[in-house]
Amino acid sequence: MSGAAERSDRSAAPRGAAAGAARVLVTRALPEAWLAPLREAGLTLDLIDQDEAPERDELLARARGATAVWVMLGDGVDAELLDAAGPELRVVATFSVGYDHIDLPACRERGVLVANTPEALTEATADLAMALLLALARRLSEGEALLRSGGWQGWGPQQLMGFDLVGARVLVVGPGRIGSAFARRVHAFEAEVHYHGRRPNPALEEAIGARFEPDLDAALVRSDVLSLHAPLTPQTRHLLDARRLRSLPRGALVVNTARGPLIDEAALVDALRDGHLGGAALDVYEREPEVHPGLVPLSNVVLLPHLGSATRGTRARMAALVTDAIRAVLRGERPANLVG
Ligand code: DGY
Repeated sequence: MSGAAERSDRSAAPRGAAAGAARVLVTRALPEAWLAPLREAGLTLDLIDQDEAPERDELLARARGATAVWVMLGDGVDAELLDAAGPELRVVATFSVGYDHIDLPACRERGVLVANTPEALTEATADLAMALLLALARRLSEGEALLRSGGWQGWGPQQLMGFDLVGARVLVVGPGRIGSAFARRVHAFEAEVHYHGRRPNPALEEAIGARFEPDLDAALVRSDVLSLHAPLTPQTRHLLDARRLRSLPRGALVVNTARGPLIDEAALVDALRDGHLGGAALDVYEREPEVHPGLVPLSNVVLLPHLGSATRGTRARMAALVTDAIRAVLRGERPANLVG
């Protein structure tokens, strides 16, 4: 019997083990208030007390013997990490709604539960997508750079003219919680909202008259703005490849607050450089924290360092979801925010 098979029931049934015996690895420095629920439950915390992702070797070493692991984006949770943690591991809780950094089948095989932070970050991420779209459409970064450089010579009739959102055709790809919240914001700006996903979203249609586009390729050719809100899966990697980027009308705008690898970043740079696209506003990148060097000098892009969920209230709610999930699993309960 494999080690994984031997351990496969480790989180299936409630355990009577004293919570105090459990050790929770936390992979970044976090405010004490966020950690308090774990301490109050009598859990022993092992904190990797730094802002940046730990080196892989350190993560593997620190995971050894952990009962629960609180991970972040950038901490790859795969068979190697799970095996390094060993048979005590019951739950991996990620401080994110996305869980593409976690190998779910490997967790399942070992009986390790996985929890994420749905809903907590919906509005903050939709706000940021809207802020990016407005910044791009109205050329905020270019205007600010002009002013700060001392190059502004006063008001001009043709200066930094932007893109009209009223009446623009905006395609939302991935009409889940965040995509729908973004669609509602765009609708409030009087744009025409279309959406593409695996199935129609009647609630969104009823709320704002959004139109379902079952065929992505057909929808792209008619879209002035494209905003990505789909999860990263093997099927959505490079969903926007060179061909699809070029099928958008000349001058179209692209916004991505979902996951960088949804776009072929090199193809995006080409389409921006030669003026096929009017601009791109990005919060996420294909190889974070690396940013394609071709993006940085372009004036028709807005670039943010993955800030979608970065508000105080949102991050506190995300922390509460993580600590609730860890506490529930260690009490032998199934939290609502399990994935997979
Ligand atoms: C997520 O939660 O997946 C975001 O990308 C980070 O908050």
